Amino acid sequence: MNTVFLNGQFMAASEAKISPMDRGFLFGDGIYEVIPSYHGRFVGFAPHIARLHSGLKELNIQHSMTEADWTDISNQLLALNRPAMGDNLAVYIQVSRGTDSKRYHAFPTGVNPTIFAYTFVIGKEPMADKSQAVTFNVVTGNDLRWQRCHIKSTSLLGNVLHYQQGVEQGAQEILLFDREGNLTEGAAVNVFVVKNGEIATPPLSNKLLPGITRLLLLRILRQHSPLNVVEREISYAEVVAADEIWITSSSKEIAPVLQVNGKPVGDGKVGDIWLKAQQLFSTHKYD
Ligand code: PDD
Repeated sequence: MNTVFLNGQFMAASEAKISPMDRGFLFGDGIYEVIPSYHGRFVGFAPHIARLHSGLKELNIQHSMTEADWTDISNQLLALNRPAMGDNLAVYIQVSRGTDSKRYHAFPTGVNPTIFAYTFVIGKEPMADKSQAVTFNVVTGNDLRWQRCHIKSTSLLGNVLHYQQGVEQGAQEILLFDREGNLTEGAAVNVFVVKNGEIATPPLSNKLLPGITRLLLLRILRQHSPLNVVEREISYAEVVAADEIWITSSSKEIAPVLQVNGKPVGDGKVGDIWLKAQQLFSTHKYD
């Protein structure tokens, strides 16, 4: 049985019911998180909760949840679901503004947020091993999403359409470029580009999600390696001329991209700098 958490209670997934008047359903008016865990240990739990709380604050969704409350719910979900679902589980958390009595755009008063959390199975813990790397082929496109991409909103239609655009071209992700022709991120990942030993990723702004894997990777590389890591704008020309490209997300960690628009990245193989980065990430991600 898959046990989920809804509004203060643990229950079977089949028992969890939300009103169609919920603003999450009607407007995509909510914030979410995906927090990975392996063998009962979460990766980046505190920064995930910090991002959740900052998104809720930015949307003025009132709540009384603390990091300790989220820890308790998440640990209980793992304990309840690991026996049936295994050891590689992400906890998904969603907080919507709540259920109103009518469909009206302005924020309602006097409603409680809807709080939902459940676990789902993710791939096995990524290894620093070239032969076991899960690799990606990607295409590119113009970023047509909104100007608040830093908010981890459940309004994901822009991302869904871009992801589908990639799938329809036979790719597993799509790298997006803003009007100035600079890289922003992928439909569901952040992006790193390696050239001549420099590891670059776009700077944080309203154009991309402040990914927790991105944050941990930057921190780990800066603290534990002499590698040259920079946050700067990256042009399309640099992307197609890169030695290595990596995409990062909570469920993938650091994944090598082997093709962009059908052309090989560098020599078309998993790179040496990826190997070092994933080794360092695997060693320090629980610090
Ligand atoms: N996706 N950018 C976007 C648009 C994302 O949706 C995600 C994550 C990331 C990477 O963020 P993080 O490292 O914090 O997972 C970047 C999640 C996993 C999802 O929607 O399923």
